[in-house]
Amino acid sequence: MNNYLELKNLSKNYLGQKKLCVLKNINYKFKKGKIYSLVGPSGSGKSTLLNIISLIDRPSNGYLIFDNTKINFEDRNTNDKLRSNNFGIIYQEKNLLNDFTAEENIFLAAIANGKNEFESTKLSEKIIKSLKLANRSKHFPSQLSGGENQRIAIGRALINSPKIIIADEPSGNLDHQNAKEFFSLLFNLKSKDRIIIYATHNRYFANLADCRLQLINGKLKSTNGRR
Ligand SMILES: Nc1ncnc2c1ncn2[C@@H]1O[C@H](COP(=O)(O)OP(=O)(O)O)[C@@H](O)[C@H]1O
Ligand SMILES: [Mg+2]
Repeated sequence: MNNYLELKNLSKNYLGQKKLCVLKNINYKFKKGKIYSLVGPSGSGKSTLLNIISLIDRPSNGYLIFDNTKINFEDRNTNDKLRSNNFGIIYQEKNLLNDFTAEENIFLAAIANGKNEFESTKLSEKIIKSLKLANRSKHFPSQLSGGENQRIAIGRALINSPKIIIADEPSGNLDHQNAKEFFSLLFNLKSKDRIIIYATHNRYFANLADCRLQLINGKLKSTNGRR
């Protein structure tokens, strides 16, 4: 089945002085093998939606179906395992552990997922080479440029062969050239068994996706992507 990830009547409200309805009854099916971009004004709920999809936050109403299984948001342990086995997540910044080198950051993500040391070392070396960062592998995040940090973040997200890659404004702090390199690496990760979803403010990068999604007034709209 191609519909690997499904949002069913998904809503998210924040209860403050005034109730804020960020996501309103969203229904959507994400298909394996596709790359999705998510645009929308600041505050429209992009991060909220991506955090629910990554099982970090929970919806107020509705549910999520992942690989034919309805997610139980009460069951944190199962969801933490699901996330570490199946998701690669990249944020705008602060993706890396400051006290560890570039290579260690990638390596530790594999160790945390239960791989042994030998396998994790081999994998992280291979990935760091593929990111063209072998000569930076012993550097700490503070000694790397913003673009290099984000490429390492891709490596960290990639090491456990995730079924879903989520990137929340990953190029928000990069200049155009570095953002281009970042997206070129991200698009290389496209595969028939994987869903990639990224939020961006940049129309040029949004347009590269197979499917373009827009969050507006709490609704998710599909605008035409490449396919
Ligand atoms: N924990 C929270 N409590 C209350 N309001 C929140 C919380 N998180 C986000 N919001 C509000 O929800 C709206 C959507 O936020 P967000 O998902 O971060 O938007 P985006 O990523 O599109 O900029 C914003 O109005 C924000 O202030
Ligand atoms: Mg955001």
